[in-house]
Amino acid sequence: SPHPLLMRMPTPRLALQDMLQLLVMLASCSCAAANPVEQAFLIGLSAYERGDLEAARAGFEECIALDAKSESPAGRTDCMTNLGSVLIDLGGADNDKSAELLYRSVLDVEPSHADAAFNLALMLQDQQAEGSTREAASLYERVVTADPGRWDAWANLATALQRLTDRPLATCRAFQKAIIRLEALHEASDAEPAAEEVAHLAQMYYGLGISLANLDSAKCAEFAADPDSMLVGVSPGGAATASSMTVCDENAQNALRIALQLEPEHAQAEHMLASLVASSTGASAMSKASPAFVRALFDDFSTSFDQKLAELQYAVPTLLGEAASMYVQQRRGGQPFSSALDAGCGTGLAGPHLRSLVDGTLAGVDLSQKMLDKAAELTVSQGIPTPLYDALLAKDLLQLQAADFLPHPTDLVDLITAADVLVYFGVLTELLHAFGRLGAQVLIFSCERASPAETSTGW
Ligand SMILES: C[S@@+](CC[C@H](N)C(=O)[O-])C[C@H]1O[C@@H](n2cnc3c(N)ncnc32)[C@H](O)[C@@H]1O
Repeated sequence: SPHPLLMRMPTPRLALQDMLQLLVMLASCSCAAANPVEQAFLIGLSAYERGDLEAARAGFEECIALDAKSESPAGRTDCMTNLGSVLIDLGGADNDKSAELLYRSVLDVEPSHADAAFNLALMLQDQQAEGSTREAASLYERVVTADPGRWDAWANLATALQRLTDRPLATCRAFQKAIIRLEALHEASDAEPAAEEVAHLAQMYYGLGISLANLDSAKCAEFAADPDSMLVGVSPGGAATASSMTVCDENAQNALRIALQLEPEHAQAEHMLASLVASSTGASAMSKASPAFVRALFDDFSTSFDQKLAELQYAVPTLLGEAASMYVQQRRGGQPFSSALDAGCGTGLAGPHLRSLVDGTLAGVDLSQKMLDKAAELTVSQGIPTPLYDALLAKDLLQLQAADFLPHPTDLVDLITAADVLVYFGVLTELLHAFGRLGAQVLIFSCERASPAETSTGW
């Protein structure tokens, strides 16, 4: 199933009450009367407000230091939290580390400090690893327990849980909560929601649709029996009017339709809706994933792709490299390929296994520019002696010509590899014709064994 999008919410900078306090104090000119710790805090806040990060940092550091030295230290969690946000804005790995330590210190003193919990969760969620995503989810849970109105925390909780996959009902509930809170905000406001807010809402409906569609029949029945599940088509007593699986599928389709109404260009929602409609009407699955869908899917996936696949112990690029190496040894007497195309190269995981087997151009082609950007990083900066790929092209494989990546117009490609790519094409005739036009002597590809329910052919 598609990888969920990570919702990026802005790091809250100043707590609202801090701003109000600042305004009140400035308006009443009581600054002079404030104690030195408070003054340092207010200096930090006003500097932060005007975007002077160094002065803000100095103010908050002073606040923390003076408080610690005072006769009765109050443990200024407000100064620590704001200093954490300033450090994140200043950027850099050391500042990030210090911010993380500050947030953790705040939470040691005040476990339900919503801003510290939210900001720390954002940092952890960005790290993408399973353990940090799990900790982020539990921090967001603290935030929504302290303040159930925070739609951003519900949204990020939903996204973290969706990634973890082991709490599917909590995931659906978190998406629902985010939607309810966000819609309530829109309704309460006289102004038309901004385009960004509409996009957030579409994203929440998309997440809900995917999460409902992913429920197995037991989980779906459990959800349908929950009076708070808000599934349409379930009687007040909790029994589904149709079979519970149909109810979840229909609700998933509804959610995806709303996502599409809100954001008609949402290629992933369009793809998933078409796929659900096709399977619920018994039509055969769609053949080729649309380029817009694949591009959007892998653009979103690009930041977490390598880490996620490492967690899954993804071995296809290694196996593919072994097959290519065996071919070179056994069929070419050790003579490397003169050129190679890594078709659907993604982040370039196959590159390290192919480079030494190709003495001419090694090209990577992919629909997703963001995946290609990752592949481009596989260079000297990563400890790899030469850039791995001689050419990286954002293109649909069906449109590709050899002249797009080989030096001479009449050159043909020697080897084509396709690691976990054929599945996006359904019927392979067109793709094989395209590969044929490139002149490949050798094609090395992977495919997946399917369950009998998925296909009668077993592949
Ligand atoms: C699962 S990833 C595999 C990436 C890489 N081969 C690997 O094994 O790590 C599938 C890749 O195929 C690319 N892809 C799918 N359809 C494509 C098409 N029509 N043209 C170019 N690339 C395509 C996707 O953008 C994605 O990066």
